Amino acid sequence: MQLRNKNVLIVGASGVLGGKLAHKLHEAGTRTYLAGRDRNELATVSEELDGAAYSTFEAIDTDSCHRVVDTAAESLAGLDLVLIATGVAAFGRTAEAEDAVTEHLLTINALAPIVLARAALPHLERSGGTLAAISAILADYPTAEMADYSASKAALSAWLTATRREMRRRGVDVFDIRPPHMETGLVDRALSGTPPRMPPPADIDEVVETIVSGIRDSAHELRYDLEEQRLRLVF
Ligand SMILES: NC(=O)c1ccc[n+]([C@@H]2O[C@H](COP(=O)([O-])OP(=O)(O)OC[C@H]3O[C@@H](n4cnc5c(N)ncnc54)[C@H](OP(=O)(O)O)[C@@H]3O)[C@@H](O)[C@H]2O)c1
Repeated sequence: MQLRNKNVLIVGASGVLGGKLAHKLHEAGTRTYLAGRDRNELATVSEELDGAAYSTFEAIDTDSCHRVVDTAAESLAGLDLVLIATGVAAFGRTAEAEDAVTEHLLTINALAPIVLARAALPHLERSGGTLAAISAILADYPTAEMADYSASKAALSAWLTATRREMRRRGVDVFDIRPPHMETGLVDRALSGTPPRMPPPADIDEVVETIVSGIRDSAHELRYDLEEQRLRLVF
């Protein structure tokens, strides 16, 4: 996808990865709409992006997910790219996990992105656009003391893969972004628990650059190759 003048919705633009991706896509000449939960943070990102339009939503509320996509589509007069960068983490042994935390994690990391994506598909079908969502390396490597977090990301990833197969003939690209651990502070904002020992963090800017390349080149997946210790785009 050529990015110049394309209409882009970034959901989770108030977060670290979402914010950096918003900047990169703006630099590439897209017309950007920002969505997130923290209004102050969205206002700051908007100012940095020449006053990009924005609105807040709550991922736990499926009506709010539908509304934010439709509001962005109306504001930009169509959508060419919808990038979903929302998510939360939780850590700890499975036996000690609380049901409420599991439910919240699955809602924010799997149900909400699925609902957002489903709301976006008709718009993307009209434009022949791209749906991109950040799952995680955990979809490929479910990890001890992150069972619920891994399961939530694997669920999203499976949904994206199946949806890609459905949407291929309807002209919509689906990009599943499965990055490795980075120092964004996500771990410190976890719903519960402390993380097990983490591998050395990947470089955030390199991950962001690779995501934008993947969008431009219509990649199907971004993966992290543990043996070679490098990011890999899959087509
Ligand atoms: N950091 C990593 O190591 C890593 C690795 C692999 C995958 N990922 C994934 O990358 C994505 C972005 O993570 P990040 O590191 O950039 O973390 P982050 O800075 O904490 O960003 C998380 C985003 O999710 C939003 N969010 C969380 N709960 C929400 C809710 N209930 N309603 C609406 N929005 C909500 C936050 O909104 P507000 O800030 O407005 O509340 C924020 O925009 C997540 O899906 C994460 O799982 C991260």
